[in-house]
Amino acid sequence: MTRKLFIAANWKMNPPPAGFDDRYSGFRPHAAVDVVVFPTFVDLYATLEAELETGAQCGRPEPIGPHTGDVSMAMIKAAGCSYVLCGHSDRRRDHHETDEDVRQQAETAVAAGLQPIVCVGETAEERDSGQQQEIVERQIAGMPSGIIVAYEPVWAIGNGKAASMDDAQTMHAFIRSLLPEGNSTRILYGGSMSPATAEGLLTQPDIDGGLVGTASLKPDEFKAIVEIAANVRKS
Ligand code: PGA
Repeated sequence: MTRKLFIAANWKMNPPPAGFDDRYSGFRPHAAVDVVVFPTFVDLYATLEAELETGAQCGRPEPIGPHTGDVSMAMIKAAGCSYVLCGHSDRRRDHHETDEDVRQQAETAVAAGLQPIVCVGETAEERDSGQQQEIVERQIAGMPSGIIVAYEPVWAIGNGKAASMDDAQTMHAFIRSLLPEGNSTRILYGGSMSPATAEGLLTQPDIDGGLVGTASLKPDEFKAIVEIAANVRKS
């Protein structure tokens, strides 16, 4: 089964990088790769107006109501987005989102017509004690169909130290084995993906793309990753 590669720019709490809306920017939709940007809520309309495929960095399950500062899945869909990140480790850390919160977000995202990208991944301590598969299995449990998964080992995020190809591939194959629609579900890797590490990671049989943070703030680096993805041939 061929799964179209998917490269996402997670800008986190940063403004869109200069030139994001240029005609030739690497953030533009690409014929061979799904390219999606995830700006802050205040920049969502700027990327939508620039005709970039856009997703939200988080969303709340309730459709409307007294949740100051939050935005619902239905509102994200109505704004023109197609994707939403659920359970990024930044949010599990900063907002204490639990596995059950993330499962509810994913369920309501699918119901709202969004494709959720469910982020999972163990911490350094969890890997050191050999619990990585147990943790990820718990994070994936009960997820609805129609999701994309992003495996983002917390110890590899934002520090330039991507997981090895073998460690990433092993976990991706494990995640695929847990998913009822494993063969068709895209599983992205996130954690210091860069032009230097992208090819090795993206050629692995079970790695179907990348969720890119730091390198997505550097338009040339992000464009290089998209081009690498466009040229990957899986054996
Ligand atoms: P990074 O971030 O590429 O800077 O490691 C990835 C992410 O947190 O989504």
